[in-house]
Amino acid sequence: MEIRTYRDGDGDRLRTFWLACGVKIRPGDDDAGLLRFAARNPELMLLAEEDGHLVGSALGGWDGRRGWLYHVAVHRDERRRGIGRTLVAEMERRMRELGCPKLNLIAWDDNTYAMRFWEALGYRREKTVEYAKEL
Ligand SMILES: CC(C)(COP(=O)(O)OP(=O)(O)OC[C@H]1O[C@@H](n2cnc3c(N)ncnc32)[C@H](O)[C@@H]1OP(=O)(O)O)[C@@H](O)C(=O)NCCC(=O)NCCS
Repeated sequence: MEIRTYRDGDGDRLRTFWLACGVKIRPGDDDAGLLRFAARNPELMLLAEEDGHLVGSALGGWDGRRGWLYHVAVHRDERRRGIGRTLVAEMERRMRELGCPKLNLIAWDDNTYAMRFWEALGYRREKTVEYAKEL
C-alpha cells in the first residue's frame, strides 16, 4: 500500500470512493473546496492506494491550535486489514511534526462502527456538543 497526498484532479475519484464507503459528501468536498483545503494542508490530505486503486483516505486540517480529521474511510472490501490504523498513524506523525498538540474529529452519533475504531486507536469520546451553521 502506498500513501500519497492529494493532487489536483483527484476530486471525482475521491467523491465516488467516499460515496461507496458510505461517507456523505459535505460542504467543502467539491473540487474548489478540496483544492483550497490542500493549499492550507498540503501534507495532510492522505490517499492510500494499492495497485492504482484507492483503498483509503484521511484528510487532516491543522489550524495552529488543533488538528481536525475528516473523511477517514476505507473501501468496504479492504476493512479490518489495518489500513485505517495506518492512515491515522501517518496523520498523527505528520501532525506531531507540525507541532499539533491534539487531534479532534466528529463522528455521527449512530456510527458505532467508527466509534469502536477510534476507541481502539486511543481516541476518547468527549462530553461536547457540536454546533454548526452552513454559510
Ligand atoms: C472506520 C474505518 C475507517 C476503519 O477502517 P479499517 O481499515 O477497517 O480499520 P483497521 O483495520 O485499521 O482497524 C483498526 C482497529 O480498529 C478496531 N476496529 C475497526 N473496525 C471495527 C469494528 N467495526 N468493530 C470493532 N472494532 C473495530 C479494531 O480494534 C481494529 O484492529 P483489529 O482489526 O486488529 O482488531 C472503516 O470502517 C470505514 O471506512 N468506515 C466507514 C467510514 C467511517 O465511518 N469513517 C469514520 C468517520 S468518523
